[in-house]
Amino acid sequence: MNFKKMFSGLALTSSVFLLTACGTGSKEDTSVKDIQDKGTITVAMNPEFAPFEFKTLVNGKDTIVGADVEIAKAIGKELGVKVNYSSMSFNNVLASLQSKKADIAISGISATKERQKAYDFSTPYYESVNVVIVKKAALDKYKSTGDFNNLSVATQKGTIQETVAKEQLKGAKIVSLVQNGEMINELKNGQVDAVVFEKPIAAAYVAKNDDLAVADVKLKSGDSDAYAVAMPKGSKALKARIDKVIKKLKKSGDIDKFVQDAYNLSVSDSTSKSE
Ligand code: ARG
Repeated sequence: MNFKKMFSGLALTSSVFLLTACGTGSKEDTSVKDIQDKGTITVAMNPEFAPFEFKTLVNGKDTIVGADVEIAKAIGKELGVKVNYSSMSFNNVLASLQSKKADIAISGISATKERQKAYDFSTPYYESVNVVIVKKAALDKYKSTGDFNNLSVATQKGTIQETVAKEQLKGAKIVSLVQNGEMINELKNGQVDAVVFEKPIAAAYVAKNDDLAVADVKLKSGDSDAYAVAMPKGSKALKARIDKVIKKLKKSGDIDKFVQDAYNLSVSDSTSKSE
């Protein structure tokens, strides 16, 4: 074997070695690059969740608006890409990251420990507080969690409210529905006795339905129930950029302003659809 041959043989073995080393090691993080190459970020949402995401008519066109939409826009700006909203039922929102139908999910998603096992999450942007809404006429009946024993309580399918209701309204019969609008209708016509929602969502529904009210019953939240932006696992680079955006929006008070503005819009606008 001459020297040249031996040398190329060596080069080949070492490059094969390098390739396998890359292949078996952690994959290169292309989470930001992939989105920038496409020029668009697709955001998964369940837009029947005012003030975070809901549909309304803007210049005669059905448009998704809300605090989460404003956060999505700020992320798009930070990455220099267009934002595309993909609307779906809440129980499909996280799964759409695994099937690559969406790049990120912003949908008032609580970054629970369980979900953190399967997805990366940004720094939290909004605290979650659970409340129960009931018929205003029956408001006096509900003073403690035990008052829901043997009654029907609705929660949205796939949300943490399913667990909150099961664990804290123990004697109640929990009904999981895909659409929030359907839960409100069932409450209004007496098919269920109560609905568990987070505070601002409950407030928006109550403001638009004067036969409903928030019950004077305290529910506990878990310490990882705050809302965060969800990403596929392995999105370290993307998370760093999104965290930067969220920290800035929190510091400036913009997130609170987004929530307040969207709340005002949703309760004043008769065309806004919450289902
Ligand atoms: N924060 C709750 C959860 O993560 C409810 C989120 C529901 N969001 C929605 N857009 N419907 O389970």
